[in-house]
Amino acid sequence: MRKIIIAGNWKMHKTQAEALEFWQVFNSKLRTKGENKEVVLCAPFTCLSFLAKHLDNTGVLVGAQNIHWEDEGAYTGEVSGGMLTEIGVSYVIVGHSERRQYFADTNETVNFRLLAAQKHGLTPILCIGETKAQRDAEETDNVIINQIKKGIVDVDQNNLVIAYEPIWAIGTGETCEATEANRIIGLIRSQLTNSDVPIQYGGSVNPNNVDEIMTQPEIDGALVGGASLDPVGFARIVNYQ
Ligand code: 13P
Repeated sequence: MRKIIIAGNWKMHKTQAEALEFWQVFNSKLRTKGENKEVVLCAPFTCLSFLAKHLDNTGVLVGAQNIHWEDEGAYTGEVSGGMLTEIGVSYVIVGHSERRQYFADTNETVNFRLLAAQKHGLTPILCIGETKAQRDAEETDNVIINQIKKGIVDVDQNNLVIAYEPIWAIGTGETCEATEANRIIGLIRSQLTNSDVPIQYGGSVNPNNVDEIMTQPEIDGALVGGASLDPVGFARIVNYQ
């Protein structure tokens, strides 16, 4: 059975004090996580060690938002896999569209980062998705297939999560139709050799639309940005019906 993974991507939000405040409320609202459901908080680097200590043995896991492909070296501003595992991080987001857009990540560097994550025993969440212009030009399917093929070269599909995040749906309140997200996720799955890879949807997921999204048969969870900052709302998303 495919695992359900609900992950919050806090992006560049929350100090340690704010993370602790979040956790106290979020933890009190979490209902059954169920054996098949994993909950992950992907926080800024400065919160990771702190959160990992607070979340120890709670069943909620900690994720980073980036990883460098080398173990160490002259790479100012980057963080390696060994640095993340040492402090209790389990997941890492790789290739988020904001990293591709603002920090020059390419399909090739994304692939390097995925391989590094797996080498260190982290589970990478590979983000892929098309722009509005690509969707309007009916290039979505080709863009997605290209990103997936180039991203997962030599990657172990037994330790991989993929997130379909259409860029036009991120932070815009404009969610992709659940049936269309389901179709694209099916397309992504058709490119894999392991059909059990969990594939999430991301892009304006909120407490009001999560139930419909999660009824879709191909969708194995959500990667949530803005709505993961509010502990009550994110608990409602995790407790989807
Ligand atoms: P929003 O949920 O704010 O649209 O962000 C989605 C996202 O980028 C998660 O990685």
